[in-house]
Amino acid sequence: MQNLTRLIRKINNSWIKSQSPTQKLTNFKKIDGFLILFVCVIISIITSYDLVANQIQNLNLIISSIINFFEIFICCGILVYISKKEDPTLNSRQILLLIGLLIVVQILKINPKTISPLSIVVPPTLIISQGMGTITALSWVSIALINWPNSLNGINEYLLLITFISSCIVAIIGGKIRSRAQLLQVSILVPLGSLICQYFFLGIDNNDLYNLNIQYLISKQGNIISDSFLLAILMLMAIIFMPILESIFGLVTKARLLELADQEKPLLRRLSIEAPGTFEHTLLLCGLAEEATRMIGGNVDLVRTGALYHDIGKLHAPNWFIENQNGMSNPHDELDNPLESAKILQDHVDKGIQIARRYRLPKQVANFIPEHQGTLKMGYFLFKAKEKDKNISEKNFKYKGPIPQSKETAILMLADGCEAALRAMDINASDKEALKIISKIINSRIQDGQLIDSNFSIGEIYLIKISFLNVWKRIRHRRIQYPTAKNNSIS
Ligand SMILES: [Fe+2]
Ligand SMILES: [Fe+2]
Repeated sequence: MQNLTRLIRKINNSWIKSQSPTQKLTNFKKIDGFLILFVCVIISIITSYDLVANQIQNLNLIISSIINFFEIFICCGILVYISKKEDPTLNSRQILLLIGLLIVVQILKINPKTISPLSIVVPPTLIISQGMGTITALSWVSIALINWPNSLNGINEYLLLITFISSCIVAIIGGKIRSRAQLLQVSILVPLGSLICQYFFLGIDNNDLYNLNIQYLISKQGNIISDSFLLAILMLMAIIFMPILESIFGLVTKARLLELADQEKPLLRRLSIEAPGTFEHTLLLCGLAEEATRMIGGNVDLVRTGALYHDIGKLHAPNWFIENQNGMSNPHDELDNPLESAKILQDHVDKGIQIARRYRLPKQVANFIPEHQGTLKMGYFLFKAKEKDKNISEKNFKYKGPIPQSKETAILMLADGCEAALRAMDINASDKEALKIISKIINSRIQDGQLIDSNFSIGEIYLIKISFLNVWKRIRHRRIQYPTAKNNSIS
């Protein structure tokens, strides 16, 4: 069974890699598309301007400048395409940041002797890899290093090679880094590594070494020590400004997701105190969703954070939800009005979105709030309403949606459906019985059309089922191994 799961996981992962984006692409508005095009033209002009300005008499150089213009213009297009392919949810603001950084770099490169290429290219790479991913950052580095506004006569080729290698290292590591402490380590180790490489390949001027003082360190261009020192300062500044960039451009870095998933965050503390049942449900859901997302190669940090906040809307009326009633009477029974009860259920989504806005949760995290319920029917209250009035419209008993737009939100919806059923299962139930229940719930969501936009393959659905089963087996194991008092077993 385990070998089969591993084999399907491998086939599935290679299949995913060969596919076009599986998430829905965020389309740009016309005005945003025009703005992006405009910035690309500006970058192309900056890159080819210098050649034209200096050698306007020479026809061959004018032609080469025109070629240069179209070259960088096409490169910008490829960069936007690759970034959208890596992360289809990138919006126009984030694309503008990506090409905006390219503009800054092209302007700084007009006079490469004033500032080292290392300091020009490496710090923006750190920002891009953190906010938009490794592949986008690597593409950005290639474009930034290939296209120069003027000839490369003044720059040592070894320095370019060191810049390229340092940038690639930052792009690869930066995409994986999950905490600000690790970022700090990178911002110290990369300049140190580049200093050592420069020392071996470029050597050092003895005068520079003996006359070293703080003013010299900051102002002396071309000295390998001061260049590495400047690189370290700029990388530290990139880390300091990262939270500001996150909020301005809506970037969701791994570090930000981890910070949001801290259970000491005021909103999560409120949830644990005011709605303890919902909080417990949330924690179990995290386990299920994380395992399934890991299995299909999705964004585990995003799904964990999304799961923690998916039901925060229940804070507006915790005791109207069964997990918080703790044996007390159900207010829905006293209300005895299925239509009103359905509105209260829908409210946990609407109020959740409001709370997410108030607490400035990133959009990717806030998306879990409406999408985990999709357009599901509120079966129990629809049944109650039909008992009273057979002709009542089903529309009033459906969540407003949208249906899950990404694999992560879809997994949360499936985990949300399976959590209560698995929790309620008999401790002695067999794996087969648990898998049967999981399959039944997942298949009902598929038949209901809730997973249309999340584009799961059959292999992925299988892996999700197996991962839910594995989590349930772990829970069952814990309950058998460490029982508490006889009448107070872990639930
Ligand atoms: Fe919910
Ligand atoms: Fe939930």
